[in-house]
Amino acid sequence: MKHFPALAIRTLPVIALCAVMAPAAPKPVALDSYDAQAKALLKQMTLEEKIGQMTQADQMYLKDPNDIATYFLGSVLSGGDSDPKDGNSLAAWTELYDSCQKIALKTRLKIPLLYGVDVVHGHNNVLGAVIFPHNIGLGCTRDAELVEKVSQITAQEVKATGINWAFAPCVAAPQDIRWGRIYEGYSEDPKLVKVLGAAAVRGLQGTGLKDPDAVLACAKHYVADGGTSFGTGSPLLDQGDAKVDEDTLRKIHLPGYVSAIDAGVGTVMPSYSSWNGVKCSASKKLMTDILKDELGFQGFLISDYNAVNQLAPDFKQAIAISINAGMDMVMAPEDYREFYNDLKALVEEGKVPQSRIDDAVTRILRVKFAMGLMDKKHSPLADRSLQAMFGSPEHRTVARQAVRESLVLLKNRKKTLPLDRSVKRVHVAGKSADDLGNQCGGWTIDWQGKSGRVTTGGTTIYAAIQTTVSKDTKVTYSRDGTGAEGADAGVVVIGEEPYAEMKGDKKDLSLDAEDIAAVKNMKKAGIPVVVVLISGRPMILGEVLEDADAVVAAWLPGTEGEGVTDVLFGDFSPTGKLSYTWPRSMEQLPLNINMKKVKYDPLFKYGYGLKY
Ligand code: BGC
Repeated sequence: MKHFPALAIRTLPVIALCAVMAPAAPKPVALDSYDAQAKALLKQMTLEEKIGQMTQADQMYLKDPNDIATYFLGSVLSGGDSDPKDGNSLAAWTELYDSCQKIALKTRLKIPLLYGVDVVHGHNNVLGAVIFPHNIGLGCTRDAELVEKVSQITAQEVKATGINWAFAPCVAAPQDIRWGRIYEGYSEDPKLVKVLGAAAVRGLQGTGLKDPDAVLACAKHYVADGGTSFGTGSPLLDQGDAKVDEDTLRKIHLPGYVSAIDAGVGTVMPSYSSWNGVKCSASKKLMTDILKDELGFQGFLISDYNAVNQLAPDFKQAIAISINAGMDMVMAPEDYREFYNDLKALVEEGKVPQSRIDDAVTRILRVKFAMGLMDKKHSPLADRSLQAMFGSPEHRTVARQAVRESLVLLKNRKKTLPLDRSVKRVHVAGKSADDLGNQCGGWTIDWQGKSGRVTTGGTTIYAAIQTTVSKDTKVTYSRDGTGAEGADAGVVVIGEEPYAEMKGDKKDLSLDAEDIAAVKNMKKAGIPVVVVLISGRPMILGEVLEDADAVVAAWLPGTEGEGVTDVLFGDFSPTGKLSYTWPRSMEQLPLNINMKKVKYDPLFKYGYGLKY
């Protein structure tokens, strides 16, 4: 692990409110330059083989692993909780990938599989992977070069398991922090989403899709998943309805896709949500007219998990609606056999034109050729030599940098921060001080995440404090903040417990009673109190804001807690700037910089962040 000189405050370049450090990027190779090969292969294919390419099953629901060959599957995925049967070690994931790929290679045409996983903040289902800060934190770094690097490392760790497709980045521009997927979005500001989303695509897809350590990226969830109105979703906003006019859709929710396409993104995932009552996965206007025809997207569309099932009570009818509107591959985790049979029947009955099938399959094959999957010289099986760097100190050093650049200093009364590492005693408290699960949040080992000692490696903030202070400094701990009397300073780490889509929708973002009490107990000891907030979004701080002498928003930093102590103890001055507006009260919500008719009087404005 890299060491930083003690107490030397390094100030990173001062970044203006919306300015982002964006590297100049070379133009990616156009996907349709592979059309000659894709079309030649298409000519050899039967209808069954074509429909197979359009089908994606979840590995955990395969009725028989040989279904990959029987149904000529174009792809399999592992959804949030779909781990290998033998546990989720690096070895088990690699074996799982190889075993699926080997079956695909037994088919007549030997077209390799795409294997897709959710890479929300690193290769987050696999034990020992580096877990990066969630996108909300990366948004606060305003550092596109860093986001590209983070995505490059993520791609390497994914490819080390053989897996070749990442359902990332999420280029939502969430407008209401009550949505449970808020932390998957970089920012409420489409300008920032645009720059960081493109950086992530470049990082994942490398200098070209054929790079041995690149993966296929997927911009999601198209479009306006972060623009749904409160009360229209399940339970509140998720998968709801974006009731906005076309101008707003284009200005706020589309820019992330425009820049992802410019960066060469190979796939896009239409959203579960609706736009003015029409499901995105059923909308010809959104999928074909705007994305493919107007924006010139040459890759393919993959539907969200069981999203097509939601389009009509009858699955066959739902399939016809979605495919005719422009969907190219369907994520049919359990119902893949039904999808295959129904789509075949729909073509035979003339309800889905052959030309639509040929277009979808050409798009899928184009991407597979661009990835070099069909090159005889390169095996599509896992290259285990990439595993040497999996979860390595080098990768963790970049994650640590991302953590410290993501921190936003909200308050610093009388220069409470930075703390002196050589005082006699520091008291640490709060439910999230020594909880890697809370520190990582959702989409970590489990789909929804889990509090506690997640079984993956990493450093909690408490552990990081212990190794940062001088050898003569005593670090004491109590979860509830009592017993701090006599300490020179106190650090209370509080906030949210893990959640992901659906479950994270919340009506009330107030801090819980346990957190408020921990800060109060610490305060009673009469020592300077530093609050570190671990959360997937801005929260209502209430009395904690007054009780605390310093407040740091650390978001969901992931496995590298030392990124937090780098700033707490002054090795680095904070540089993070809010990527979302921070409200005073729930009554103000929704509140963001894009709302023209609402008085903008938040507690902390978009772009706010103190320095030392
Ligand atoms: C989520 C997607 C994810 C997919 C596959 C869905 O529930 O909305 O973001 O890529 O599952 O796991």
